[in-house]
Amino acid sequence: NCQLSSAPENVGEVKVVDQNETSITLTWEKVNDFSYYTLRYDENGEPKVEIINAPPQGTSVKYVVSPLTPGTKYSFTLITVFEEVHSTGFSFDSVTVPLVVDYVNVTDRSLTSVTLTWKKVNKAWGYVLEINGVRETFTPDQSSDVSHSVTPLKPGTAHNFSLVTVFSELNSTAFSGRAVTTIDCASVEWHVSTSSIQGTVEGEFTSATATYNLQTHVSPGGRDVSFTDLVSGATYEISLKYNTSSELLDQCRHDITVFPSPPSNPHCDYYGGGYSASVIWNKPVGVWTTVEVNVTGESYKVDDIEEQKIIIQGLQPARTYQVSLNSVSGHERRSNSLVFSCSTDPRGVIAGSVIGVLLFCLLVCLAVFIFLKRPDIISRKKPFISGSKQTKTKGTLIPVARFPDHFNKLNVDDNRGFSEEYEDLAPVGTNQTQKAAELPDNKVRNRFKNVLPYDWCRVKLSTLNGTSDYINANYMPGYNSNREYIASQGPLPATVNDFWKMIWEQRVKGIVMVTNCTEGGKIKCEQYWPADIKPCLYGELLVTVRSEEQNLNWTIREFSVEHKNTSEERSVKHFHFTAWPDHGVPEGSEVLIQFRELVRRHIEKEGARAPTVVHCSAGVGRTGTIIALDVLLQQLEKERGVGIKEFVHKMRLNRPHMVQTESQYVFLHQCIMDSLQPNQKPEDNIYENADLIYENATALRELR
Ligand SMILES: *[C@@H]1O[C@H](CO)[C@@H](O)[C@H](O)[C@H]1NC(C)=O
Ligand SMILES: *[C@@H]1O[C@H](CO)[C@@H](O)[C@H](O)[C@H]1NC(C)=O
Ligand SMILES: *[C@@H]1O[C@H](CO)[C@@H](O)[C@H](O)[C@H]1NC(C)=O
Ligand SMILES: *[C@@H]1O[C@H](CO)[C@@H](O)[C@H](O)[C@H]1NC(C)=O
Repeated sequence: NCQLSSAPENVGEVKVVDQNETSITLTWEKVNDFSYYTLRYDENGEPKVEIINAPPQGTSVKYVVSPLTPGTKYSFTLITVFEEVHSTGFSFDSVTVPLVVDYVNVTDRSLTSVTLTWKKVNKAWGYVLEINGVRETFTPDQSSDVSHSVTPLKPGTAHNFSLVTVFSELNSTAFSGRAVTTIDCASVEWHVSTSSIQGTVEGEFTSATATYNLQTHVSPGGRDVSFTDLVSGATYEISLKYNTSSELLDQCRHDITVFPSPPSNPHCDYYGGGYSASVIWNKPVGVWTTVEVNVTGESYKVDDIEEQKIIIQGLQPARTYQVSLNSVSGHERRSNSLVFSCSTDPRGVIAGSVIGVLLFCLLVCLAVFIFLKRPDIISRKKPFISGSKQTKTKGTLIPVARFPDHFNKLNVDDNRGFSEEYEDLAPVGTNQTQKAAELPDNKVRNRFKNVLPYDWCRVKLSTLNGTSDYINANYMPGYNSNREYIASQGPLPATVNDFWKMIWEQRVKGIVMVTNCTEGGKIKCEQYWPADIKPCLYGELLVTVRSEEQNLNWTIREFSVEHKNTSEERSVKHFHFTAWPDHGVPEGSEVLIQFRELVRRHIEKEGARAPTVVHCSAGVGRTGTIIALDVLLQQLEKERGVGIKEFVHKMRLNRPHMVQTESQYVFLHQCIMDSLQPNQKPEDNIYENADLIYENATALRELR
């Protein structure tokens, strides 16, 4: 029967009733009740043929094609088979469901954004990400990773997201995750006291800790973060974390300094005959960096935490001052300072007024006596206390307003006034003994034969092992006391150890050096400090250069000095003025005045209770000039007047040749002039004395 051997018909239609990652489920209506079908498709490039023997009952066939590759498009051909004759084949396409991503990593988080990263499973698949109500589609490209940052988001919030892989309109199952934005700890209103930190934090976190010095405090929980029993003045790191069952996320970190506790038991002592007072306290509890003392609108800072007092200068005797005291830790201080009253020593004033009253009585008695017994004295034309030579030599303070005139007067006739005044000073002090300096053993310890310290105020070294107590150095008066400085010669190779011994024994905090080690090829001073960061041992003192800061005209160093035997360590500041040229003067007075300002600030901050060492080569010329400058500028400020000659006179009583040349003497005057008119350029000097400047410049060129 040729009818029977003709090819059977194809199926009319094939329906895909189900798809998943590895299978596709098909149904179709049988053709003429035939039971045999063949399905052809390619799997991984290999042709596959499946023979389908449908059960005889029923009119439709259901068949699951499996196993297949996920997310792949297949072209099928379904062939009807009857009596080994095949139909032409019904062709159709279908796809499998793509795989879900393995993992979505939150690779970056900030206050308002999160970055999600995932690995592509197959480069032909797309993705749909849904987060915070927004859906984004990623169409396939060649990269193997997708990294996507989502913003703006609300800070401190957990955002759920889902990621679906898409292939040919088929969605994989969703990957669900959660990304948490961080919290802005710094914007929280923290309430800080001397022992606690509290604040209400908006945002997701599961634990809050505060850590200082390896000690960690834990907040009890909830939005109200609270840490108590903290160390006063300490800086705590506040850390909030969020625990997602798999990891601990850092939500924020923030440093907060607990208020320092105040110094306790503050009080005052008399000091400096009532012109100063010492303010004393007990150390605060906990941590602090500075104790701040305010008196009469001036603020003083004591940065050395071992120090428990400060001398306040510039006060008047027999007065009561309001003193306020506070401790500071970093930038943090308590809002309310301790305020107390401090009285200055009234004894001088009382003694003074007693003496005044006595003097007054005496004068009255004298007047009565004269009136009764010697009326002739009263009737004399010339009063008996008038202008003798004697009264002129001492104690003449030139007030600020009269200084320019005074300056001009000294300057006329080729500096004649300066020369005369300077000549007058030549014999001052020279009749005093210099025995120690002249001892045969000590001769080698002097740099110059003619610059020797007077015995009465030379600095003596301790003499434990029978060593000499001699060093070429004298105590020098300052504005506030008679031992404010030590003027010393520049150390010789043989006296470097002695020099450091002096620094240690006199508890010196600052060294002012106004020379270079060599100038014009001549050695002016031994380099008595280490040349690099390696420590050097000088006698029993180990000296290390901790820092060095070079400026155009000076270098500032910080030495640490450690005593070998006791391991006590102190720091000493080195102010090295490098711009005194070989044969000349510093460029104008301004640079030296600035340098002096640095030194003064250091003395006021640290060095007020120990002498400051000043040296050049001989320790008299430049040394005398800079000491005088420092003192005179203080006098100018406090008394609105200066006594230059008087002060040089005073220095000459302590050490010979102080202010060694006339030009240095002139220079001192010039400095005072210039500091009266700090912004005045020499050209437009208001004193209309152009040649004065010129002449001084000539004179100053000789200054060394
Ligand atoms: C896919 O579907 C088939 C038929 O419904 C089922 O047997 C198989 O377990 C499914 N596979 C997956 C991975 O769900
Ligand atoms: C998530 O990212 C981190 C850092 O990039 C990586 O170390 C980690 O293996 C990733 N995790 C997963 C599951 O991919
Ligand atoms: C696939 O997912 C998208 C978005 O998630 C949705 O709009 C679409 O209807 C889904 N398609 C199927 C076949 O489920
Ligand atoms: C001192 O004065 C300064 C500036 O006026 C002020 O900021 C500070 O709080 C005062 N300190 C004390 C201890 O009163």
